[in-house]
Amino acid sequence: MKILGIETSCDETAAAVVENGSKILSNVVVSQIDIFARYGGVIPEIAARSHLETILPVIEKSLKDSGCTWTDIDAIAVTHTPGLLGSLLIGTLTARTLAILHDKPLYPVHHLKSHIYANWLDQSDPQISQVSQSLPSFPLISLIISGGHTQIIYMEKHNSFQIIGTTRDDAVGECFDKIAKILGLPYPGGPAIAKAATGLIGFEYSPETIQVHPGAPNKYSLPHPKVDGLDFSFSGLKTAVLRTVQSELKKPISFPSHELAKLLSPTQIANFSASFQTTAINILLEKLNLALDQYSAVKSIVISGGVSANDLLRSTFSDFYHNKLPIFFPAKQFSGDNAAMVASAAYFEIISGKEPENPYSLNIYPRSAIQ
Ligand code: KG4
Ligand code: ZN
Repeated sequence: MKILGIETSCDETAAAVVENGSKILSNVVVSQIDIFARYGGVIPEIAARSHLETILPVIEKSLKDSGCTWTDIDAIAVTHTPGLLGSLLIGTLTARTLAILHDKPLYPVHHLKSHIYANWLDQSDPQISQVSQSLPSFPLISLIISGGHTQIIYMEKHNSFQIIGTTRDDAVGECFDKIAKILGLPYPGGPAIAKAATGLIGFEYSPETIQVHPGAPNKYSLPHPKVDGLDFSFSGLKTAVLRTVQSELKKPISFPSHELAKLLSPTQIANFSASFQTTAINILLEKLNLALDQYSAVKSIVISGGVSANDLLRSTFSDFYHNKLPIFFPAKQFSGDNAAMVASAAYFEIISGKEPENPYSLNIYPRSAIQ
């Protein structure tokens, strides 16, 4: 079964054709990062307009790259929740129109489900290996770490999602983005902080890059939030970094946060990046461990969402669970938003018995929980 996936929930316009939930026939992603780097964050109105300009060429290219014509496509899948209202509308209305025009069944997909299913996409390169990769086995625990969400999900089987932990305030990716701003690093903050921690400092308003020694992860001691159970909290960590930067620069807590960055030396930026990154990763690891203690029958761990691209997180988690439990990460290009994961999630819903939606009435929901 060949599914055309469409994704426009935030600031990536994406389309992909995936066969049987895993074989990627094409994958096209047009990112708006260059636009929003100038503003230091996503502006919903501009994002929607940019999706509108890009969506049709992106879909056309994904069909062309896949070698498929409309006759070969069995279904259309589209992200309809959660996300930015205007952005979701563009993808969903396009998918509805195409479903009517080409008489294809239409399947709406929850964005967080699709992030999880990025782990079912075939990552093996047929040029290099004929051996198919192993897949996560059930029951499993999935840690979703993105710009909008931080959740621990228990999955008994395909298409069964139980939220067992969630953030009470900021998402971890949002925390990376906000701290990058305090340190004067460019948007998106996650990759910028990861780079700065290695000593390669880029700046928000300047094309200049400076190389210093790698940051010291223990230079600044940052608190772990005291939240009971499996829930997270990241807003306190952001404030702790702000206060530590102010105190390091001998400034009062009333000193404006946007004026701190230019007073920091590249070495201080590297040290703050490394200390924050390590603390955030350890907080995630602690909660994941707590979840695994409570759900001891779990057979695999599945990590997903934009923050799962982080190299230190990948190596820390892989080392920790080595010889304990199989742990899965998506291929890096499928950590962030893409449409191949949308097509994959739809496939596993379809084989679990999901019926298509009416293309004349499919709605969008800017906020909704995975269920
Ligand atoms: O999943 P995603 O692409 O979009 C949402 O659904 O939110 O996640 C975007 C988030 C941003 O906050 C970005 O800073 C973060 O993922 N991110 C990273 C890295 N790459 C992207 N965070 C830490 N390290 C990275 N290498
Ligand atoms: Zn996402």
